[in-house]
Amino acid sequence: MADLTENMRVKMVRKDLENIPQFTLPPGYSFRAYRQGDEEHWLRIQLAADRFNTITPTWFDQEFGADRGPLANRQFYVLNPQGTPIGTGTAWLSDDLPVPWPGRVHWLAIVPEYQGRGLGKALLTLICNLLRNLAHRGAYLATSSARVIAIRLYSRFGFLPSVRNPQEAAAWKKFPLPLALRTEALASLVASKQERYLRNRPELH
Ligand SMILES: CC(C)(COP(=O)(O)OP(=O)(O)OC[C@H]1O[C@@H](n2cnc3c(N)ncnc32)[C@H](O)[C@@H]1OP(=O)(O)O)[C@@H](O)C(=O)NCCC(=O)NCCS
Repeated sequence: MADLTENMRVKMVRKDLENIPQFTLPPGYSFRAYRQGDEEHWLRIQLAADRFNTITPTWFDQEFGADRGPLANRQFYVLNPQGTPIGTGTAWLSDDLPVPWPGRVHWLAIVPEYQGRGLGKALLTLICNLLRNLAHRGAYLATSSARVIAIRLYSRFGFLPSVRNPQEAAAWKKFPLPLALRTEALASLVASKQERYLRNRPELH
C-alpha cells in the first residue's frame, strides 16, 4: 500500500483558471522573467530547495528544451531585496496536450532560507495568472506525496488530486488534507474528463 513515506509521484489539476487567489510579494522582493544565463540560478535554486531529486546540470534542457524562446514569458524568478534570484517557477506547457488545455505549473521552488515568508504563494499567483493570460484553460502539476507543504499550497489554490490508479487513491486517502479527501470524487471526474480528452484528440484518429 502506498503511503506518505513512499513519496509517490502524484498529479493535481485545476479545471479552470478563474478566481486564482491573489497574493503579492512582501516589500523589497520582486519578480523578473527568464534571461540568458539564468540556467545557473535555476540549478542553484533547485539544488538548494529540492530534497527529493538529484538535480544535475542537464535537467534544465531536459525539462524546458533547447529553445529558450518560450521561457521569456513563462519562466520567472523571485529576487531578494539585493536582486539575487532566490526562487523560481515556470508557467509551462503540457507534455502531451496542446494549448489551450491545460498549462503546467512547473518546478516551483524557493531556497530554504527564504521559505515561509509568503514568496511561494505570490509566485504561484504569478504562475497561475500567466497561464491564464497565455490562454490556457486549466492547469496541472506533478508533485510527490512527501511534499506536504507544496501540496497544501496547491490545494489552497484550488488544485485537486488527479487520481489515476488505486495506489494513488491510497496515497491521497492517507494524506492529512481534509480538502483532498472532500474533493476526491470531483478529482476523479476531472481525471476522467482528461482521459476522455486524450482519447478523443483529433490527431489520434
Ligand atoms: C513549496 C514552496 C515553493 C513554498 O514556498 P514558500 O515560500 O515557503 O511558501 P509561502 O511562504 O508562500 O507559504 C505557503 C504556505 O505554506 C506554509 N509553510 C511554508 N513553509 C512552511 C513550513 N516550513 N512549515 C509549515 N508551513 C509552511 C506557509 O505558512 C503558508 O501557509 P499559510 O498561507 O497558511 O500561512 C517551498 O516550500 C519549496 O521550495 N519547497 C521545496 C521544493 C518543492 O517541493 N517544490 C514543489 C515542487 S512540486
